[in-house]
Amino acid sequence: MVHYIIVITLLALGLAPHCLSSKTVGGGYLYPQFYDHSCPKAQEIVRNVVAKAVAKEPRMAASLLRLHFHDCFVKGCDASILLDSSGSIISEKRSNPNRNSARGFEVIDEIKAVMEKECPHTVSCADIVALAARDSTVLTGGPSWEVPLGRRDARGASLSGSNNNIPAPNNTFQTILTKFKLQGLDIVDLVALSGSHTIGNSRCTSFRQRPYNQSGNGQPDNTLDQSYASQLRRNCPRSGGDQNLFFLDFVSPIKFDNSYFKNLLANKGLLNSDQVLFTKNGESRELVKTYAYNQ
Ligand code: HEM
Ligand SMILES: *[C@@H]1O[C@H](CO)[C@@H](O)[C@H](O)[C@H]1NC(C)=O
Ligand SMILES: *[C@@H]1O[C@H](CO)[C@@H](O)[C@H](O)[C@H]1NC(C)=O
Repeated sequence: MVHYIIVITLLALGLAPHCLSSKTVGGGYLYPQFYDHSCPKAQEIVRNVVAKAVAKEPRMAASLLRLHFHDCFVKGCDASILLDSSGSIISEKRSNPNRNSARGFEVIDEIKAVMEKECPHTVSCADIVALAARDSTVLTGGPSWEVPLGRRDARGASLSGSNNNIPAPNNTFQTILTKFKLQGLDIVDLVALSGSHTIGNSRCTSFRQRPYNQSGNGQPDNTLDQSYASQLRRNCPRSGGDQNLFFLDFVSPIKFDNSYFKNLLANKGLLNSDQVLFTKNGESRELVKTYAYNQ
């Protein structure tokens, strides 16, 4: 009898009974309907503000997607990346992967401001970042997914976590895979999620060694197409120009498609961490081909 009442109540709340299993509601479960009653417009608000920001600047879709990645790899998807330094907090914004690079914070602030007017103290920033990443992907032509909700926001940041957990563009294939595995992700996740580099930009400083002196012998990377390398040298000088911007996918830089994977087959991946997915591991190479051949 008691069980029936619980199940019926949950159904009335729009929750599937399997959400219960061993934990109680509010005991840490994420589910897509989390705000259906407390803030029914939550998802619409995120979608509208993201759409406006991306219409104004297409690259913003890429920047918002990357924020979710850089948030999740440090203490989980808890919006720790948004915290500025103060008191005991040392902001993740100044880490190597984020400094002069992570962007989109004003868009998250704007979403949060609209959200607080609509339903104060209800929707977490972590959920906003997760939704904004999904909406950015959809807006640029990519796949959609349902976002489980109910994340709680961090009260602390981890600068060292940001420096150590997020892969660097010059890490080896094995180091990158290890960093993904430490997050519970596997080689399929690594290759598929790297497909996010089908949108957005990189600075010269993130790939400079490749067109000039990849392995210390004064020669360009031999897994980099030579005509593409000479194009890169034009705007990424041997020294200076660190912040000059390049498309991660020069074929369709603001469209979320599979040309990123096609580029890898042609030795036209921009970052070393992109090209190694095709050159350094058989299983990864097969995954790249699968995605290149099939949109
Ligand atoms: C596999 C290891 C990865 C490495 C080493 C890596 C590295 C980088 C680097 C170096 C940049 C350029 C940053 C700059 O120069 O300012 C970049 C940009 C970007 N990354 Fe990654 N990334 C990785 C995986 C991912 C994943 C998993 C996602 C999302 C799911 C992602 C999304 C993006 C996006 C969208 C941009 C463009 C951002 C913009 O234009 O503002 N990356 N990444
Ligand atoms: C990668 O680049 C960073 C920053 O430029 C540098 O400090 C580091 O030594 C490089 N690591 C490797 C493995 O080349
Ligand atoms: C290439 O890099 C190595 C060290 O990484 C350095 O000793 C060498 O002088 C560089 N060569 C050129 C042509 O820049």
